[in-house]
Amino acid sequence: MLVRSLTQRIRLDGDLKRPVTYLSRRTGAKPKIEASTGETVPNGGGLEALCAEIGDCRGCGLASLRHNLVFGEGSEHAELVFVGEAPGEDEDAQGRPFVGRAGQLLTKIIGAMGLKREEVYICNILKCRPPGNRNPQPDEIAACEPFLIRQLQAIQPRVICALGTFAAHTLLKSEAPISVLRGRFHEYQGIPLMPTYHPAYLLRNPGAKKQVWEDIQMVMKTLAIRGQGAEQ
Ligand code: URA
Repeated sequence: MLVRSLTQRIRLDGDLKRPVTYLSRRTGAKPKIEASTGETVPNGGGLEALCAEIGDCRGCGLASLRHNLVFGEGSEHAELVFVGEAPGEDEDAQGRPFVGRAGQLLTKIIGAMGLKREEVYICNILKCRPPGNRNPQPDEIAACEPFLIRQLQAIQPRVICALGTFAAHTLLKSEAPISVLRGRFHEYQGIPLMPTYHPAYLLRNPGAKKQVWEDIQMVMKTLAIRGQGAEQ
């Protein structure tokens, strides 16, 4: 309940362009003012500071089950952010997002776009692995969403690509099937958001690669990047 109201407050403050300094757990840290917006951002709004602040998060029941919290990785200046669902076994073991089989496919897709993983940012709705890779639960999403919101605020990408149902539903506050949501841009806080199928789904349904490539090409067009021209 507390977490849900916090999420609502962050969203409202974001809409109203109000400072979100109350999220800072560091008593001594002075908020910096961002020159571009004049907005007050805790700890300068940096990802490193946010990661340190999340630290040994105990915000939900997944904390006691994880080996590593998977914060996310890539460029703080990325124009494109991929948001997945939650860490799997490999990610939990390594503390890095999308490093298992689905991750290798995502890396291929990024390569086909003519980009490197280090040039984009990759993260998940949940920062900790649900046991047996079960679906994220609403209370876990509510506990973790403030961190994702702050990651996106820090990066301020030009485009967000939501990978799969949970990323699309969480960011868009929609319950429409991913098959209906994909294929066109939506908006997240004024940022174009393209939902597409999750790479893990593509591993089970290779026939859907064509649609993902169509979605990705729309992302590339928006970012004015040409890619390798090869369908994955
Ligand atoms: N699936 C996800 O959604 N995220 C990962 O990091 C890995 C697999």
